[in-house]
Amino acid sequence: MTPNTCFNAHVLTLFPEMFPGTLGIALAGKALEKKIWSLNTINIRDFATGVHKSVDDTPYGGGAGMVMRPDVVGRAIETLPENTPLYYLSPRGQPLTQKKVKELAKNDSIGLLCGRYEGLDERVLKHYNITEISIGDYVLSGGEVAAQVILDAILRLREGFMGDQTSLNQESFENNLLEYPQYTRPNVWKNLSVPEILLSGHHEKIEQWRQKCSEELTKERRPDLWAKTTEIK
Ligand code: ADE
Repeated sequence: MTPNTCFNAHVLTLFPEMFPGTLGIALAGKALEKKIWSLNTINIRDFATGVHKSVDDTPYGGGAGMVMRPDVVGRAIETLPENTPLYYLSPRGQPLTQKKVKELAKNDSIGLLCGRYEGLDERVLKHYNITEISIGDYVLSGGEVAAQVILDAILRLREGFMGDQTSLNQESFENNLLEYPQYTRPNVWKNLSVPEILLSGHHEKIEQWRQKCSEELTKERRPDLWAKTTEIK
């Protein structure tokens, strides 16, 4: 269980209008209103200087695209409260897993630096010792959507966010297993029936059936996860 204090998210971006975005509706939106979490968007452009207020420049050594300037991004980073763990969203980063999300959710604040253009001057990552996180092996046009994915995954683990915390123990990736299939009314739909066992009221047998389904689904769809499950056993 995570602590029952407000979770403070600081997002550094060139596009603050993309926030709260998906996090402004449904559970996350309500939790934001209830101050279960707070969102501070920092507009990197506000830290640009000079007549042109440029936030990026051409890459040294040549090549396509533009690179975000370290001086501008650095000034934005230095406005973060002390000891805020800071991450840069990048396809080069550590892959995000449920295990990593659980670790992140133990903190009461997070800083997420979103890149655009071809990237960020490498010295920013070195100077502030920033960890990079990737949400998958594909390339997005910027880190903003990835930041929302990470925040969504963290927030639902925070106390007071979900009505029923027990559902968290049964979902996909707990014990490296995918979740079993779910059914609701009507009992028969388009000639397809709900599995008989679920109507039996026999809780122990239902548990066993669900466990078996989880294992079979994982073996079939995610042999990589299944290998980890058997390693643990
Ligand atoms: N920015 C661009 N692509 C990304 C990815 N796959 N994960 C995180 N941030 C990104």
